Amino acid sequence: MAKSYKIGVIPGDGTGPEVVAEGLKALAAAARKTGLKHELIRYDVGGELYLKTGEALPDSVMNELKGMDAIFLGAIGHPQVAPGILERGILLRIRFELDQYVNLRPVILYPGVWTPLRDKGPEDINFVVVRENTEGLYAGSGGFFKKGTSDEIAIQESVNTRKGVERCIRFAFDYCRRQGRRKVTMCHKTNVLNYAGDIWERAFRDVARQYPDIQTDYAHTDAVCMWMVKNPEWFDVIVTDNLFGDIITDLGAMIQGGMGIAAGGNINPQGVSMFEPIGGSAPKYTGKNIINPLAAIAAVAMLLDNLGEEDAGWRVEDAIRKVVADDLKSLAAGQMGRSTTEVGDLVVKYINQG
Ligand code: IPM
Ligand code: MN
Repeated sequence: MAKSYKIGVIPGDGTGPEVVAEGLKALAAAARKTGLKHELIRYDVGGELYLKTGEALPDSVMNELKGMDAIFLGAIGHPQVAPGILERGILLRIRFELDQYVNLRPVILYPGVWTPLRDKGPEDINFVVVRENTEGLYAGSGGFFKKGTSDEIAIQESVNTRKGVERCIRFAFDYCRRQGRRKVTMCHKTNVLNYAGDIWERAFRDVARQYPDIQTDYAHTDAVCMWMVKNPEWFDVIVTDNLFGDIITDLGAMIQGGMGIAAGGNINPQGVSMFEPIGGSAPKYTGKNIINPLAAIAAVAMLLDNLGEEDAGWRVEDAIRKVVADDLKSLAAGQMGRSTTEVGDLVVKYINQG
């Protein structure tokens, strides 16, 4: 009998539940088409639960998530909860505890999608960022000294383990090869960060030696921002640390058409991975049926692909490509010329026709 996948679903806050509903419609359609079996286990964690109970992510939920085949997350962030609590308590906790050591962010401009880069098209904007996802400045290492006094000092340390850096870089090279891409560019700030940059540089060199078929390149983070705007066609696979990756992938989202389309995966190749639209909870659009669900639907395509259900993943992605080529005025919330649920229905229609 075919395996039935257990998929944990965290709709989360704001517009999260609206886009997740459309993602699940696409998942169901792709599953019908390919005979894939799945079971959804829904967890209502997020701002509302936190305000009611004081708990961002109950341990019982965290433990159950460890037994999933994959996790689909909508959005985390609530206007009545101080910034950081839900991000650290839910999103970062899941990334860390499930050791999702890669944040995979395709930056691909689909035909028909508007980019703010003049004179650049789909043949120019087609790369993938492999962001380290469990270390660096996100490790939470550091502290205050004399907090609250006029002498206070805050120290925030970037943690870079050889194991953590190397496995991320190795993932980038493997991914490059698997996807038939050609080049891995390391993005860092080695001209200033003499310790973190040094360990990254040595690990990159050592891993690259084992992939003689793949070209290598290096660019400083600030220069990557410049080239992503001026010559995005130079990039193929970019590997970088946690904070640099966070910054450059928002820029990447903008050149591929915005938060309406940008999805990402938090990947543990040997464990449980989690997929999400990278835009936030967008409280001002909540409940209006105007948010663009395509990023969440693209996250479903990545989820399926990561489960090894490439056919189902491809069908979802192909449907997204058709919708953006033919059916939408814009990818921006409220300007699509279609409602959230209509966009989801179109995706389902194309999956059914495919
Ligand atoms: C992202 C987000 C998160 C991050 C926030 C919400 C903690 O910006 O996934 O890129 O910084 O990693
Ligand atoms: Mn980010």
